[in-house]
Amino acid sequence: MTTVLTYGTFDLFHVGHVRLLKRLRALGDRLIVGVSSDEFNALKGKKSFFSYEERLEIVASSQYVDFAFPENHWQQKRDDIIKYQVDIFGMGHDWQGKFDDLSNICQVIYLERTENVSTTEIKQALSLVNVEKIRELEKSFSTTLDILQSITSAYT
Ligand code: CTP
Repeated sequence: MTTVLTYGTFDLFHVGHVRLLKRLRALGDRLIVGVSSDEFNALKGKKSFFSYEERLEIVASSQYVDFAFPENHWQQKRDDIIKYQVDIFGMGHDWQGKFDDLSNICQVIYLERTENVSTTEIKQALSLVNVEKIRELEKSFSTTLDILQSITSAYT
């Protein structure tokens, strides 16, 4: 039984997450995933859109994930690897080299990220949509105001 482990926030679950989980699952017989708690995210200076409970539910429902559990602090990885008898610890290559110290207890690998998608980019795109919507509303309000003013001046 080969056990593969990964960690992440997995907010606004997207195709980059799906592909990473799929590739990791293909490396072994079971994939277990540590999902960052809201408190741990705050420590990392991150605030997710979905709560920890929601993100855990989404990750656990993936067909590639056998078990998901909370990631509460930086130091728990070594204990988790021993506890869950992990053979392979894998992360996206944005973490390249960061967890090499764990290679004395399991194989540590970094996988290519899927290009052109990230939670940060989705958040930025959605905030632009909001700005565009506000501009549209401002435009239609000012048109309505113009019409009202011309009606008022026609009667005064
Ligand atoms: N990941 C990936 N390909 C992407 C995005 C993420 O392979 N396009 C991987 C990351 O390398 C990480 C895991 O998915 O190992 C969880 O990443 P997470 O930080 O939750 O997702 P991001 O979309 O990278 O979020 P953010 O923009 O907030 O960093």
